[in-house]
Amino acid sequence: MRNPANTIKSTTTDVLVIGAGLAGLMAALRLAPKAVTLLSKGPLGEEASSTWAQGGISAALDPADSPANHLVDTLAVAGGIADEDIAALVTDLGPERIRDLIDLGVIFDHDDKGLSLSREAAHSRRRVVHANGDSTGREVMRVLQIRVKEATHITVLENAEAVDLLSHNESDQGRHNSVQNIPICGATLLKDNELQAVNAHATIIATGGIGQIYSATTNPFAACGDGLAMAARAGARLKDLEFVQFHPTSIDVEATPRPLATEALRGDGAWLVNETGNRFMLDEHPLAELAPRDVVARGIWQQIQKGHRCYLDCRRSIGDAFPKHFPTVYAHCENHDIDPTKDLIPVVPAAHYHMGGIETDNRGRTNLNGLWACGEAACTGLHGANRLASNSLLEALVFAPLVSNDVCDFLSNKTISASAKVKTSEQSQTLTSVVKDQDVIGELQTLNYRYIGLCRDEAGLTTLLKELDRIETNNPHASTRLRNIMTTSRLIATMALERKESRGGHYRLDYPNSDPRYQRHSIVELSHLKKDIVNDTIKLAS
Ligand code: FAD
Ligand code: SIN
Repeated sequence: MRNPANTIKSTTTDVLVIGAGLAGLMAALRLAPKAVTLLSKGPLGEEASSTWAQGGISAALDPADSPANHLVDTLAVAGGIADEDIAALVTDLGPERIRDLIDLGVIFDHDDKGLSLSREAAHSRRRVVHANGDSTGREVMRVLQIRVKEATHITVLENAEAVDLLSHNESDQGRHNSVQNIPICGATLLKDNELQAVNAHATIIATGGIGQIYSATTNPFAACGDGLAMAARAGARLKDLEFVQFHPTSIDVEATPRPLATEALRGDGAWLVNETGNRFMLDEHPLAELAPRDVVARGIWQQIQKGHRCYLDCRRSIGDAFPKHFPTVYAHCENHDIDPTKDLIPVVPAAHYHMGGIETDNRGRTNLNGLWACGEAACTGLHGANRLASNSLLEALVFAPLVSNDVCDFLSNKTISASAKVKTSEQSQTLTSVVKDQDVIGELQTLNYRYIGLCRDEAGLTTLLKELDRIETNNPHASTRLRNIMTTSRLIATMALERKESRGGHYRLDYPNSDPRYQRHSIVELSHLKKDIVNDTIKLAS
């Protein structure tokens, strides 16, 4: 690192937005005319799950549909712990937010009745808008990036990796801050191998998911829990961390991350079969391939445990229409010499979406003054224990403007205090200077897939926590990536151990049934964790 100790380049802005996926871009746009600094870990639009979204965005747009129906479906898959008022808010505002995207210039697919709506698992209707077939995220992000580049109030910092949140109490920087009235005032970041700081009167975390803590994931490289870990270190309350969604049909080829075969294929009639041709989901659930995602993912997992290989069979239902209707999946297949019009597509479940995250209220506020979160990094309570397909882009789309409105209100009522004088802590200096942890990260990703993957049990979770102790001890100078993966893994493993039941995305082999005593959210703060044991201050919220 080029900065000598205790000096650091710092800039000041009204609002710092960390993350440039759908949530971050939308929040930044809606903050005008406040001055916004927007951080993107990679080049703008890359390294964001939003760009890779295939299926689309759900909203009750069909005249025969209604937000009330959408609400019922959202709650039905959520394992009894979604926040109904949040789900009602999101499903009510959905249609309006889709119209906002159209007004901004997004071109969704149409058919002779108007907007073309597809169906995905556990939706009772066709309700998912899409663009260029399965390239929805790319189209939405294309338009938002244009609008962001046009916006004079936004300064974009590309290839800028946020490292730690700043608080006004300098001594707390980068450390756990249990004093919740000390405002968060920006973040340190690493750009061009230099540690810098952005002071901000308000900070929004929109860093996306955690898929990269696993060896098999559909998520981009950047999705390794940075925002979650950063907020945890600053003292944020974290909610429902044990609930991780595995997508049933990542394409089982040698690739990292795994390319996705969208659920819309099954919505269009594709079957799941094993190598004997057995359509095994018929025995698992009345909705067969369109059962809730966790059920389908575990159905495939069980087949794999029995030594079978699983495939998507799109030949009969989609056939020659494949390249036109699903160009993204078709290209993925072509890259691996699979012709889905003639061949079966090999599939395996992969970590896809985190229902848990930084706890927020209905305006996206966290428990820390000056800190908001939205998108996948946040836990609004919408998804409960399991997410309905295509509800996450919707959540980002609905919550980003709510967050921005609240931040604007906050700034107009706030006496802006002087910027924090930023010093680099010794810890940050060391942390950011090490970038050679690939092997240990690979080892931990494999452990996580095994022990906090689709099926968990006490023995495995305890083993993982011990392994984490070992890895942490052996890597005192971890890179930011390893540090955040270790923190996120420990938090998830701890909460998975604590929830002694199965519900939604959390399946315990040793507690295979749901237990009404656990029909509630879980809440944790980093300060509650002890290295060796789950202590009893970790709460399942009442
Ligand atoms: P992201 O879009 O992931 O953006 C996060 C941003 O934060 C990125 O710019 C990233 O680079 C940046 N970032 C991360 N860490 C840092 C850091 N330390 N410093 C600075 N920047 C950082 N959902 C649907 O509803 N419909 C779908 O069809 C759908 N399809 C999907 C397909 C795939 C392959 C994947 C992976 C996910 C899909 N999802 C879908 C889920 C959905 O895409 C995500 O939940 C959603 O896009 C999250 O948006 P976000 O803005 O919160 O995060
Ligand atoms: C998919 O297209 O299958 C992914 C949709 C989602 O994750 O919501």
